Amino acid sequence: MNKINIAIDGPAGAGKSTVAKTVASLLQYVYIDTGAMYRALAWVALNSNTDIQDDSRLSALLHNTSIELKPSSIGNRVFVNQEEVTEMIRSNEVTAAVSDVSAHAGVREQMVKKQQKLAEGKGAVLDGRDIGTTVLPKAELKIYLMASVEERAKRRHIENINKGRDADLQMIMDDIQSRDQKDANREISPLIKAADAIEIDTTKLSAEQVAKRIQDLAEERIRVV
Ligand code: CDP
Ligand code: CDP
Repeated sequence: MNKINIAIDGPAGAGKSTVAKTVASLLQYVYIDTGAMYRALAWVALNSNTDIQDDSRLSALLHNTSIELKPSSIGNRVFVNQEEVTEMIRSNEVTAAVSDVSAHAGVREQMVKKQQKLAEGKGAVLDGRDIGTTVLPKAELKIYLMASVEERAKRRHIENINKGRDADLQMIMDDIQSRDQKDANREISPLIKAADAIEIDTTKLSAEQVAKRIQDLAEERIRVV
């Protein structure tokens, strides 16, 4: 059967990774969590005292760091220089730093190339901020997920409680708003809905409902390619 690539973009907590993982599993596609790659770089930068405002230092660090994503039932497991960092990259410190790290041109150039390589065989579902606009501008299916900021903060709050992470609702809301603002206003490939993306407001939908809708859209596209 023909394979397509699926791009899923949107702001923090819109349900991208949950839904992308489910869709990939339903279609037996590969799921690639591009946000985890930026988080991994932010984690290495913080651990090596690299200035997160300095593009050339971060770019050199990225060049010398191996970042690997491995599929698993919980989403992508993430390895930095062969060390597993899957949970560590979700810390408040990494979350607070990642939008500064991801804003740099040199960093994005390398990340985009890596992500394009991961998707070159088709049959991939990528989630992030610039997949439909920059990483895979020719993706056969582009989805833009959004939800109210209150709903997104509530979801992250419940998720953090369930996973034993810090879970202050106001802090989560502040982080989401601050990252959305930085991600949408940076100069290089900001978070924006691609002109040909299908927008889904997930505020009142379950993750299963959203995944089913994307699966249906994907199957339609697969039939015509
Ligand atoms: O899951 P959550 O919404 O918390 O964020 P994420 O997908 O893990 O992404 C973390 C950060 O990486 C975002 O806030 C962006 O700054 C950056 N990012 C990006 O710039 N481009 C992407 N394709 C994916 C993530
Ligand atoms: O990747 P992104 O930051 O866009 O969001 P996520 O990490 O996939 O979703 C954040 C939380 O919201 C997860 O715990 C999901 O299970 C939950 N969720 C939900 O309750 N309803 C949806 N329609 C989508 C996600």
